Amino acid sequence: MVNIAANPVNQNVAILSIGAYRPEHIVSNDELCEVLDSNDEWIYERSGIRNRRWISGDETGRSISVAAAERAIRNAGIDRAEIGTLILATSTWRTITPHGAPEVAFDLGINGVAAFNVTSGCSGFGYGLACAADLVRAGTSKYVLVIGMETMSEGIDRTDRGTAFIFGDGAGAVIVGPSEVNGISPTVWGSDGENAPAIRQNLDLVEYMDRAEAMQGTDASVEKMGRLSLVMEGPRVFRWAAITLPKALKSTLDASGLSVDDIDVFIPHQANSRINDLMKKNLGLRDGVPVANDIENTGNTSAASIPLAMEEMLATGKAKGGQIALLLGFGAGLSYAGQVVMLPPAPAEASL
Ligand SMILES: CC(C)(COP(=O)(O)OP(=O)(O)OC[C@H]1O[C@@H](n2cnc3c(N)ncnc32)[C@H](O)[C@@H]1OP(=O)(O)O)[C@@H](O)C(=O)NCCC(=O)NCCS
Repeated sequence: MVNIAANPVNQNVAILSIGAYRPEHIVSNDELCEVLDSNDEWIYERSGIRNRRWISGDETGRSISVAAAERAIRNAGIDRAEIGTLILATSTWRTITPHGAPEVAFDLGINGVAAFNVTSGCSGFGYGLACAADLVRAGTSKYVLVIGMETMSEGIDRTDRGTAFIFGDGAGAVIVGPSEVNGISPTVWGSDGENAPAIRQNLDLVEYMDRAEAMQGTDASVEKMGRLSLVMEGPRVFRWAAITLPKALKSTLDASGLSVDDIDVFIPHQANSRINDLMKKNLGLRDGVPVANDIENTGNTSAASIPLAMEEMLATGKAKGGQIALLLGFGAGLSYAGQVVMLPPAPAEASL
């Protein structure tokens, strides 16, 4: 009988650091409504959003991923040569091939590491963190860099009343590594493909190319042809969230072995402040437990929203390193992923 080698296992893993990048251009509801048939009051009341950031000038999905990751690496104080895997959680990298993670690794000076994208919508960071924690636990990599990055502004129709007001751009990154005490619970995650059409592209790529081909030689403009863009059935997403997320939160707490009274901070995906208020009420958190509200000035940044919200809370002192946080990502797929984590130290280099 042969004995195939296995790596030594690390039971205890943690988020060692955080870094973020917020694009320079702040887009207020009023600016958005120069092209969108809506208004500041309606948007704030329905979503809790006042401003979002959109990339501009030289900023790209690639540059903001690298900027957030650079901060996370420097804030961790680790040797970047010891990063074994880079996971890029995004649904807005401009190409499917090549996927972005290897190029981001190259820009970070760690060309050659295992590097892959995770495309699971707004639960992307939770899915990436799940993979990272297990890769470190299994001894596959000493450190894993997880980046949540989105440039949602490039993939929405800015005149679509159902989606244009919600989404924003940004990037947040963490370093996951071994730790003396365990700082990341088992992940509770899942999906619901039956409700997949609730958040989708308006056309698949082949339909889009067929349409472009059919228009060749005509005087068709982009306006006539229509853009490839994200559409959302808002009320359907809301109904799904109201049923699925309370159960997911309870299962996440159960898996962590902690009770709701042990939770110091609640950092749900910044989808919509009304969904977050509903979850907060349902959870029965202790009085005064801070709940992330980065959505107000950052918008819904999909896979980037949890690390961005975590960074904002740590950088502004609303949360402290070492506190216990409950995380829950959810969105396209539909899909969700929850963890209880110990927060990393406040970032020495912050984005605010
Ligand atoms: C998107 C969302 C805010 C819409 O709110 P809603 O109350 O469900 O709105 P409805 O689509 O039912 O429309 C209600 C009214 O507002 C109007 N309306 C819709 N979009 C509008 C806009 N952008 N501005 C102003 N009015 C708008 C509708 O025309 C409708 O008017 P009517 O009552 O006169 O017919 C809400 O469904 C939601 O929060 N869904 C969850 C979305 C989410 O979190 N997505 C992220 C997942 S990652």
